[in-house]
Amino acid sequence: MEKLKLGLIGAGFIARFHARAIAQIRNVDVAGITSLSNSEAAAQEIRAMGVGEAVVYDTITEMANHVDAIAIYAPNFARVEIMEEIATAVKQGAVLKGVICEKPLGRNLKEARRLVELAEEANLRTAYFENQIFMKPIQAQLAQLLPQQQTMGPLVLTRSAEEHGGPHEPWFWDPTQQGGGVLSDMGCHSIAVGWYVLTPAGKPPTFLQPISVTAETSLLKWGLPEWRQKLKERFGVDYSKTPAEDFATGMVTFKNPETGQISKAQFTDSWMFEKQGLRLFMDGMGPGYAFEVNTLRSTLELFIGDEAADAIADAETALEKATASRGLLAVQYNEADLYGYTDENREAAAAFLAGKDAHLSWRYGLEITKLVMAAYMSAEKGMTIDLTETAVQQALETYIPLIQQGRGAEVLHLV
Ligand SMILES: NC(=O)c1ccc[n+]([C@@H]2O[C@H](COP(=O)([O-])OP(=O)(O)OC[C@H]3O[C@@H](n4cnc5c(N)ncnc54)[C@H](O)[C@@H]3O)[C@@H](O)[C@H]2O)c1
Repeated sequence: MEKLKLGLIGAGFIARFHARAIAQIRNVDVAGITSLSNSEAAAQEIRAMGVGEAVVYDTITEMANHVDAIAIYAPNFARVEIMEEIATAVKQGAVLKGVICEKPLGRNLKEARRLVELAEEANLRTAYFENQIFMKPIQAQLAQLLPQQQTMGPLVLTRSAEEHGGPHEPWFWDPTQQGGGVLSDMGCHSIAVGWYVLTPAGKPPTFLQPISVTAETSLLKWGLPEWRQKLKERFGVDYSKTPAEDFATGMVTFKNPETGQISKAQFTDSWMFEKQGLRLFMDGMGPGYAFEVNTLRSTLELFIGDEAADAIADAETALEKATASRGLLAVQYNEADLYGYTDENREAAAAFLAGKDAHLSWRYGLEITKLVMAAYMSAEKGMTIDLTETAVQQALETYIPLIQQGRGAEVLHLV
């Protein structure tokens, strides 16, 4: 089997998660890695997993000359400069088939559009990594409910949520670096998976036309004085000065351009979730049928009593963003597969090897960024954003949410 020689930019949380996914598929080798920190440690882990040589390169340009494709797994604020270096390397002779970018494509529409332009100018195929669309439970419900969809009609309502107790690195908490709070970080997932499950079978991912967005952003837990203090001590961010939202919810309304049918995707995302760890929840209602996914329900549960609790080495090996090491614990023993990382890597590699864009290209990622920006705009203005208006579309192109500008105190309630 032909394998894609992939080079990773970034050696943090998601790079390592993807390595665990790649260990489960056969068409990708991690051929190289470059990062501002931790490259050597990550490379050793990757080699130990048997998923590739993971040669450490000092620069992106150097790596671009030794791999087939590059995956951008660095923080959101570094996207544009990284992509500029990749595009320049290609202009100078590096032969790359494609480039992968983790969500979000940009902190705002201007950045996301710049990424798309750079990839197109360099004639690179693209993959926007939105793992939730590749989750086996999501794909399985779509396959199982195909006859119902064909006879009764597609889903008309879906609700999607991604929630945990808060991110692992300081830059995620800094709205100017990350792009905002939980809406920028995780709203992009929930909005994308909502759009996807509503889409009639066989139609492209942007077939349904988003016509309006309503949203709210709030700071419910991490703005309280004692929790602000913990953030300052743990991550060095000051939410009394530059707060970001830890809760966001809203509704995207879609129109089927062929039938005129309206459908709705509600999203809820939080960094203030007080359960065992990360929970992804999705459900959907069609006429006469439904589905529900809840990743905190596992076939494996552990119970650890108080006296035995000290024996736990690392709760995060049980569940991403685990918050407890005793009591009744949910264990997901193959999170890389459950969350869709295996199948998104396999699909992107097959597409690049065939000279094509992945199922979700950067142009698709751009549309997701637009919906996230519309959600911030709605929350800021306290009104529904009508996406059918040309003036609104134009305003979104240059819009930077106040929270992203570091002016969250003007829109979030602080005590
Ligand atoms: N799909 C998902 O569920 C998911 C989950 C986590 C993170 N992500 C995304 O993945 C990206 C990385 O997140 P993470 O959690 O791995 O972050 P992280 O902070 O754990 O790791 C980032 C890595 O990038 C490196 N880095 C920083 N700036 C760089 C630069 N200019 N050039 C090269 N390397 C640089 C750092 O040294 C570090 O190794 C983010 O965009 C995030 O949104 C996606």
